[in-house]
Amino acid sequence: AAEDGLNAWLRYAPVQNSSYRSLPSSIIALNATKTSPVYVAGQELQKGIKGILGKQLPITNGTGRDSSIIVGTLDAYEKRFGEFDKAEDLEEDGFWLSTEGRDVRIVGQNERAALYGAFEYLSRLGQGKLSAVSYVSNPHAPIRWVNEWNNPDGSIERGYAGPSIFFKNGAVVDDLTRATEYARLLASIRINGIVVNNVNADPHLLSPYNISGFGRLADAIRPYGIQLGIALNFAAPERYGGLPTSDPLNPSVITWWTNVTNQIYKRIPDMAGYLIKANSEGQPGPLTYNRTLADGANLWAKAVKPYGGTVMFRAFVYDNHLDYTNWKNDRANGAVDYFKHLDGKFDDNVVIQIKYGPIDFQVREPPSPLFSTLRKTSTAIELQVTQEYLGQQDHLVYLAPLWKEILEFDLRADDRPSKVKDIISSQRFNRPLGGSAAVVNVGTNTTWLGSHLAMSNLYAYGRLAWDPSGDSVEILQDWIRLTFGFDRKVIDTITEMSMKSWPAYENYSGNLGIQTLTDITGNHYGPNPASQDNNGWGQWTRADKKTIGMDRTVKNGTGNAGQYPPAIAQRFENIETTPDNLLLWFHHVNYTHRLKSNKTVIQHFYDAHYEGAETAQTFVKMWESLKGKIDTERYNRVLFKQIYQAGHALVWRDAINQFYYNLSEIPDEAKRVGNH
Ligand code: GCU
Repeated sequence: AAEDGLNAWLRYAPVQNSSYRSLPSSIIALNATKTSPVYVAGQELQKGIKGILGKQLPITNGTGRDSSIIVGTLDAYEKRFGEFDKAEDLEEDGFWLSTEGRDVRIVGQNERAALYGAFEYLSRLGQGKLSAVSYVSNPHAPIRWVNEWNNPDGSIERGYAGPSIFFKNGAVVDDLTRATEYARLLASIRINGIVVNNVNADPHLLSPYNISGFGRLADAIRPYGIQLGIALNFAAPERYGGLPTSDPLNPSVITWWTNVTNQIYKRIPDMAGYLIKANSEGQPGPLTYNRTLADGANLWAKAVKPYGGTVMFRAFVYDNHLDYTNWKNDRANGAVDYFKHLDGKFDDNVVIQIKYGPIDFQVREPPSPLFSTLRKTSTAIELQVTQEYLGQQDHLVYLAPLWKEILEFDLRADDRPSKVKDIISSQRFNRPLGGSAAVVNVGTNTTWLGSHLAMSNLYAYGRLAWDPSGDSVEILQDWIRLTFGFDRKVIDTITEMSMKSWPAYENYSGNLGIQTLTDITGNHYGPNPASQDNNGWGQWTRADKKTIGMDRTVKNGTGNAGQYPPAIAQRFENIETTPDNLLLWFHHVNYTHRLKSNKTVIQHFYDAHYEGAETAQTFVKMWESLKGKIDTERYNRVLFKQIYQAGHALVWRDAINQFYYNLSEIPDEAKRVGNH
């Protein structure tokens, strides 16, 4: 039913297991003031245990002799029970969970951490993980945010699940039930910030009326330990404030932003901070006024500083009118070109938010070289749960493996271990802040993302933001058990489909690092390889009759390979050491160039497209094998999507293969492509 979609992995479906009998008989939420995260933790424990075990546990003050589930902050715990020996081990937002002994004890370093611990306990119960445990869990990084590209009119940029749950008709909606339900889901995966409006921000959202709307939203999510963030429009001083300029060093502009910020914090004292897209895709920014990007970022940083706020400044700065006739031009160079010389110039509460790859959420990209360039600046990685270029939730594409490849990539800065995950966590370069942001774009659809299976991506995002060393399959299977139950076949089948899904999508869309090959002129959906080239957007493939690929070498191309630290630069500079899956990202070659597999590039294209499309066909049969093991409503909805994906994969296969066959006129060795 719709409830299953809304509750997603928090369904608390009944679990039959006799060992549950030894569970405590009451819940104690220490010092829980109404609507505080610890209060919510108590309620959630009650609700979860009712669902999972069918037992209604009272929430008490714990005066009796019975065993209890005790949840609270470290402070409250120590006040009640004396010194706590794990206190030193708890970092900000971290919790301790113990099911050893008579009581279950959940101690959070702060309020939200106590709630995280409660969700962790319920997740274990819901998965039948009953062995006695006692452990501390701390976050890998302080910033674990989601970005929701919602417009005030209720539309969502790159949103595939219906209109906004936050806005309608130019303002924050009256009924914030869905916002609160969403906060609940996010808290259970330990997300601590939501930027609720589009990075292409409407300046009118800064009106007093809308600030009070933001205030109501912040109130709705606060009980879940989640802070509200706001995306700003750089030109708001002019476009909303009536000033003649938006120059970030102009005193009236500074005063204007400071006043707006003060008004916001007056209503929302714990506002997380701002997210800014500037000088990007034709929009104005500091560079418009001959100021540096740091001049802009620091202006807002100073405004939010007294309140402990953070400025997430996006590195997605590039010229979208690049001259495509110049083979030295490269959009992928944008971020390093624009930010490198500013390293060290940003205030301490500025975080540069960097898309995982140098272009734009493609099916395969190397990590952005900017991660290793900024040494004196805090950074965060930007991922996409919303599948903009990746099938828009009509295709199953489980993304944890893609994200893991980037997070685990060792950039070898100064020839030392420099994994992306350790850079964004602030460890590698010893920065004060860092973390991750994912563009999620949930909508009013009762499945949140428009697809039941796509929710594994949201779940995995939260898990990896907390602990990027997590395993893609383990995370996935936790999600499956919580969402669909424990049946072995259900777990195995959804695991197999999910783990095959990214490779399949890559196979039937863009191969060998050529990018996804979606239509880039409009909605980024469906095959359109021709749309990549001969325009200013810079997502070029440079395909002609004989050759294909971007030459990003230093010796002959755009020099992009040289933006990486020497060991990596060398790997990508040389065709022999560039992995096949990024060959065309870094090199311009003949279609007859032989890969490490000894296949030619063009034959690999043909074969991969057949293979990928074939795999997509098998998803239908795999899903059908679960009939009767999953409730009819969810079974049918997923089946519909899988049938669609299977068909669309054929469209992809034939469109791409035919395109490159027409261009190259090189026949397919297996005689499938072309005019046979
Ligand atoms: C992509 C996306 C845009 C978005 C932009 C961004 O290009 O298609 O809709 O505004 O990224 O991240 O700013």
